[in-house]
Amino acid sequence: MVGRMVAFRGVEVRFGSVTAVAGVDLAVQAGRTTALIGPSGCGKSTLLRAVVGLVWPSAGRVEVGGTAVTSDTVPGLRLKTGYVIQEGGLFPHLTARQNVTLMADVLGRDGAATARRVEELAELVRLEPALLERYPLELSGGQRQRVALMRALALDPDVLLLDEPLSALDPMVRAGLQTDLRDVFARLGKTVLLVTHDMAEAAYLAETIVLLREGRIVQTGTLNDLRERPAEPFVEAFLTAQRSLVAL
Ligand SMILES: Nc1ncnc2c1ncn2[C@@H]1O[C@H](COP(=O)(O)OP(=O)(O)O)[C@@H](O)[C@H]1O
Ligand SMILES: [Mg+2]
Repeated sequence: MVGRMVAFRGVEVRFGSVTAVAGVDLAVQAGRTTALIGPSGCGKSTLLRAVVGLVWPSAGRVEVGGTAVTSDTVPGLRLKTGYVIQEGGLFPHLTARQNVTLMADVLGRDGAATARRVEELAELVRLEPALLERYPLELSGGQRQRVALMRALALDPDVLLLDEPLSALDPMVRAGLQTDLRDVFARLGKTVLLVTHDMAEAAYLAETIVLLREGRIVQTGTLNDLRERPAEPFVEAFLTAQRSLVAL
């Protein structure tokens, strides 16, 4: 698939006197991975939330697959959008399997087909199938994020939104999941919009990096673009602050 899958057009989001997003124009290319990165509070999560109608722009609009996100279109668009938040957001009173199949069950999808889908997804995200019968509290952080990813992929969405999916994990688990995520993205060819605060992770997982500051895009490009042609001194300062990049 070519073209843009998600478009932010002059998007501004305000919370009272706080401007969380201060005019963002961004075309997220279909079938590729785009990383949103920037300091805490720069508006990354708010941009993802605007895609699924959890917050509404005070100006501008968001489009998914050419359809403007409105209160009328959001229920349908949500079925085509998988969303994973930092802590996974799994329902604690449901088993991993029940978390993954919840929406398919609500929609009355065929049980046997759903069970096959769960098997496929467990293999894709490399989760041992026996763990599906456990409750989230009985899983490790990394296993929970694998389940959250399965849940996000359950309805085979066009768009995958991942909000710091690996940030709460320890470095070894995180490195393992980064490798697996990259493999999943490559195999599925979905449009992925990933939030991270780690430039090495952004460069490893995404073709395009979007660096934000105080609700605005500072620069869009590859890690090399940012390193070799920084748009502002802030880009250099941000890269320098990411000490893990010294080795790259
Ligand atoms: N529901 C809300 N009510 C008030 N302020 C909010 C709300 N959500 C986010 N903000 C503020 O908007 C700004 C951007 O937040 P956020 O998008 O969560 O940043 P990031 O994900 O980049 O750390 C921050 O100043 C944050 O405090
Ligand atoms: Mg955030």
